Amino acid sequence: MNTDINTYIEKNKDRFIEELFELLRIPSVSADPKYKNDVIKTADAVKEKLIAAGADNVEVCPTGGYPIVYGEKIIDPKLPTVLVYGHYDVQPADPLELWTTRPFEPVIKNGNIYARGACDDKGQMFMHVKAFELMMQTNTLPCNIKFMIEGEEEVGSDNLGIFVKQNKEKLKADVILISDTGITANDTPSITVGLRGLSYIEVEVTGPNRDLHSGLYGGAVANPINILCEMIAKMKDNKNHITIPGFYDDVEILSAEDRAEMAKAPFSLDEYKKALNLSDIHGEEGYTTNERNSIRPTLDVNGILGGYTGEGAKTVIASKAYAKISMRLVPHQNSDKITALFKNYFESIAPKSVKVKVTPHHGGEPVVTPSDSVAYKAASKAMETTFGKKPIPVRSGGSIPIVAMFKSELGLDSVLMGFGLDSDAIHSPNEHYGVFNYLKGIETIPYFYKYYAELNLTPAPPLLKERG
Ligand code: BES
Ligand code: MN
Ligand code: MN
Repeated sequence: MNTDINTYIEKNKDRFIEELFELLRIPSVSADPKYKNDVIKTADAVKEKLIAAGADNVEVCPTGGYPIVYGEKIIDPKLPTVLVYGHYDVQPADPLELWTTRPFEPVIKNGNIYARGACDDKGQMFMHVKAFELMMQTNTLPCNIKFMIEGEEEVGSDNLGIFVKQNKEKLKADVILISDTGITANDTPSITVGLRGLSYIEVEVTGPNRDLHSGLYGGAVANPINILCEMIAKMKDNKNHITIPGFYDDVEILSAEDRAEMAKAPFSLDEYKKALNLSDIHGEEGYTTNERNSIRPTLDVNGILGGYTGEGAKTVIASKAYAKISMRLVPHQNSDKITALFKNYFESIAPKSVKVKVTPHHGGEPVVTPSDSVAYKAASKAMETTFGKKPIPVRSGGSIPIVAMFKSELGLDSVLMGFGLDSDAIHSPNEHYGVFNYLKGIETIPYFYKYYAELNLTPAPPLLKERG
């Protein structure tokens, strides 16, 4: 164990936590315009933290939406450069009544930091700022570092996409390092090597031109809520395959060996069910739970709205019904193509008795990151050092749309070295992040830099001569 790192963390951990609390207290909800000033305030707070940690040229870069915080430490242009990406915006906290403590008043309970953004992504992003401070204070930063922390990840990163295209020189680097994913368990470290893409769509079904008495008209006109439910039900067959024509055309088929390799990851179906209080699981026939939530695409209703939902009963046939539908995509599906296929199909299955409107929201492309690169090896070695166990490569079901763009626009691979747990309840009430995980991240990140610099300096071994 590197005593430098551990000593520094031991001495400063209370402050590390208190500083994270300062960020968690600002409700930087990017989806809700009500929080506009708070989101901007958070960008300024991140800027101050980067300056205090020792970064140069720190700026809050304006965009068409929320700003991007940039900072850097270039110690020697000849050395490799790591670009750290993270996000300071968070998901809305509602439903508030399901939180046991207030979402923007962080507290520690049973070794966990409870607050919206504790894990996703303020806690994980801030580990990098504190690890950077540690390397500056202990004179151990072995390569150049750039930070790019955005405020619109939770709403699709549209402006970051533009920023990346316009600032290729500024963002020049050798690899991107991100902590916005998770590990399998605290005693089973893992590195994420795949993310799903996303196609998000809103649909509107209109029946009669006004809400109607369900007795006077019921049975004689289309009820848009009933129709919407029928249409949604039609989008999957009895094996839970998605029925949109062409939907699976581009889906990457994994080899039997790859699937066998995946199946080696530790997983207990009993514990999975128990954690979610489920009597049974559900999903596409022919695939395991781990496959269903990583290498297979999905279609899910995220919200549905229509008719009377107030107290008591109101006898009414609503004029309109709405749903928000997401499809998670896998390599080599394309979000624009899938959105178009969905639109065609949804319109084609609508009965004449209703009108439908399909409005696409944000999308994002799936990505697979290499597990044989120098940067992956550095991350693996770093985690092995601090967890005492070699991390396993896993594909995650979540999406970080900018990662595919980093590859297509900057030509850069990302290392997804996250420290969260599936049980951290990100996007849910009572989001939390383990103090263990937060400090483990701060401890692991400096090793990543150390090994990344060392491995970059080591010349590649000469190719072995082929035997005749
Ligand atoms: N950090 C998450 C994504 C994530 C979490 C990936 C855990 C893997 C493991 C990110 O903030 C997120 O929530 N992304 C959104 C996509 C976005 C376009 C709204 C998602 O996956 O729903
Ligand atoms: Mn995130
Ligand atoms: Mn998120």
